[in-house]
Amino acid sequence: MSLIWAPNLTTGIDWQDNQHKELFKKINALIDAMNQGKAGDEIGGLFSFLDNYVREHFRNEETAMDKHKYPDSAGHKGQHKKFIDNIKFIKDEFQKENAHKNIIEARKLLADWFFEHIAKIDKKLGDFLKPREIDLTP
Ligand SMILES: [Fe+2]
Repeated sequence: MSLIWAPNLTTGIDWQDNQHKELFKKINALIDAMNQGKAGDEIGGLFSFLDNYVREHFRNEETAMDKHKYPDSAGHKGQHKKFIDNIKFIKDEFQKENAHKNIIEARKLLADWFFEHIAKIDKKLGDFLKPREIDLTP
């Protein structure tokens, strides 16, 4: 049930691609722990770990957008906010239920958003950044 990286998700911006791959690992670690019925505090830790990394990654993308005056930044930032809200929603549900029945929905919510976002929205940003990011760092 892991999320699998596919070549069509590559944006061509190295820091962005590396961070996306790292995010896949963190999402997979969380889903695996949920599947294995790990203790609530271990899962809580993985949620925080993912949440912190996601925020840092979004900050990097948004800094690059602002720096280069990306025309579609409002829509892109809105999608980022939605993902942060999704993580919070899944975390709250998980704690509320204290059960593992939400794993499938959680995985779907995270995976669908991510594949869709990277394959469309982030690739568009990558294409915009490529000729502008001389050192390719945010
Ligand atoms: Fe993004």
